[in-house]
Amino acid sequence: MVDLPFKLEMERSAKRMGSNIVLALDLPPSRSQSLLSKSIELLTSVHPYICAVKLNRQLVLPLGLFEGVQRIVEWVHDEGLPILMDCKINDVGHTNRTIAEYYYQAGFDAVIANPFVGWDEGLQPVFEVAGQMRRGVVLLVYMSHKAAKEGYGQTIHEPETGRTVPQYVVFAEKALSWNADGAVVGATYPEKIREVHAILGGQVPIYSPGVGAQGGSIQASVKAGASYLIVGRSIILAENPADTAKLVRDRAKILAE
Ligand code: XMP
Repeated sequence: MVDLPFKLEMERSAKRMGSNIVLALDLPPSRSQSLLSKSIELLTSVHPYICAVKLNRQLVLPLGLFEGVQRIVEWVHDEGLPILMDCKINDVGHTNRTIAEYYYQAGFDAVIANPFVGWDEGLQPVFEVAGQMRRGVVLLVYMSHKAAKEGYGQTIHEPETGRTVPQYVVFAEKALSWNADGAVVGATYPEKIREVHAILGGQVPIYSPGVGAQGGSIQASVKAGASYLIVGRSIILAENPADTAKLVRDRAKILAE
């Protein structure tokens, strides 16, 4: 979008908009109105209160990447906002690279990827193509749902160091050493946000999904160190999405000051 590294592009956008809200545009399937026109309608009312938009496959599958979704990406960019693709890249290296390339070609400024697949023949090709195309990579560190403890919360034995540590601590360290543009930690686990924030030391911003619909608190996640709140259903399914987005933005803003 602009010639800035993604991390700085987000900082610039948050400052310009006076908001740290990333809108998760997860529209439910619709028969009465096309998802594309519904997306644009929603963005038109909500965009003054957000700093970025996040899409996931919920729109890519029905609309197609280079048809409907690319038009949403262009609309978002025309408003000067960055847009992330929550594709949770999670395969072997050569397919990961192709997936990232397609999303970047469609205009996405960053992709979300899963560090479970590791570096060599895992996410290294994604970081490589991100560097070549000057885009971002945001890593999952601790997901927001109940069962996150079964994977991200496991205690692991790290053979290289001999340490016994929680999996998410290792992922937070990887976010730092791989120079990721962000780390996702669920707002439903503010104590994990605090712990990860202590590891990242402000060098890698925390994106926190899960406020509202999933039960996470704006106050607890911002106070624990989340830089950006990813918010979907509580805004998009609200009776008045613009008023709700403004309310969430204002609450988060007061706490961050
Ligand atoms: P709601 O409706 O719960 O939407 O406000 C949250 C959005 O965030 C996504 N999500 C996650 N994305 N790591 C991610 O990368 C997570 O732990 C996580 N939890 C929720 C979800 O897909 C939706 O778009």
